[in-house]
Amino acid sequence: MRVGILTGGGDCPGLNPAIRGATLRLIREGYEPVGIQRGWRGVLDQLTTPLNADIVDEIIQQGGTVLGTSRTNPFRKEEDTKRLFESLEALRLDALIAIGGEDTLGVAYKLHQHGVQVVGVPKTMDNDLSGTDYTFGFDTAVGVAVEAMDRLRDTARSHARVIVLEVMGRNAGWVALYSGLAGGADWIVIPEVENDMDEMCDYICALRSHGKVYALIVVAEGIEMPYEPPQENLQMDAFGHIILRERGIGAWLAKEVENRTGFETRYAVIGHVQRGGPPTMFDRVLATRLGSKAAELVTQRQFGKLASLRGTEIVAVPLQDALAESKRVPVELYEEIKQIFKRSY
Ligand code: F6P
Repeated sequence: MRVGILTGGGDCPGLNPAIRGATLRLIREGYEPVGIQRGWRGVLDQLTTPLNADIVDEIIQQGGTVLGTSRTNPFRKEEDTKRLFESLEALRLDALIAIGGEDTLGVAYKLHQHGVQVVGVPKTMDNDLSGTDYTFGFDTAVGVAVEAMDRLRDTARSHARVIVLEVMGRNAGWVALYSGLAGGADWIVIPEVENDMDEMCDYICALRSHGKVYALIVVAEGIEMPYEPPQENLQMDAFGHIILRERGIGAWLAKEVENRTGFETRYAVIGHVQRGGPPTMFDRVLATRLGSKAAELVTQRQFGKLASLRGTEIVAVPLQDALAESKRVPVELYEEIKQIFKRSY
């Protein structure tokens, strides 16, 4: 039985361990894994590559994805959708393991509805997928952001500056919140909670008057700004998402803080640095277990399912659970963490 494995959407650390976990488990069960390159683009163009134990042997520590990825949406244009089904037929796949976020899994779910034997593995560094407690890629990305904060703290203190760190996070502020907490930020701004600029700037001034000459702010790229750049100046991906980095949230917030406080303020955007590099132990273990579970679901013919983390268990949930509303930071959690980052004087 030939089982295709693909990775779609933005890459993140953990994709290779997931490919490895699925490949090794499929081989153990007597199935033939087939790599599909560049996500759904690879299905459309029938781009395959062999996968075996030797090929995946040394990929556990590699960031990115050895299969390549794309943000191709095969349901966007009618001609692509037609070609999608023709290509699936031509590839002679008995089943498909789709490793990806909301968009990739959305395509997988549609295929499942059309009778394609597909299972999903959830990934996103944003950690905003429903249907699973954590996604791999998140832990590594937060680690990178925390390291950036440690470095920014040194230079912020030396120059008595405010520094704003812009991190990824489209609809959800998980990366900003966890990086801010673990990196000891003075203020955290996330899309789920409206930021009170007066409160934030007054607090930064209070810090200074109590002797702390610098401040670190972490902001998620997806927060709302009072004036959005004209849409025509912004690029969109194939799923219709604006490329957020171009909105320049970090730059805008830094300017605003400087104008309001009078303190010299800089910003840093770590962007895709968060998405590269070796996965952490947590991401390697989670991704390997999820990949292996997806292979098991194929052998059990549990199609239309998603391998998912529930507590410490890896379980199967319906694919559509991952497509429900994106998992956002609860306001109560933000408030809890604010008790720490906003000290009282
Ligand atoms: O979806 C994950 C994500 O990392 C978002 O946080 C970010 O806005 C986006 O991908 C960037 O995608 P791309 O690499 O396609 O610019």
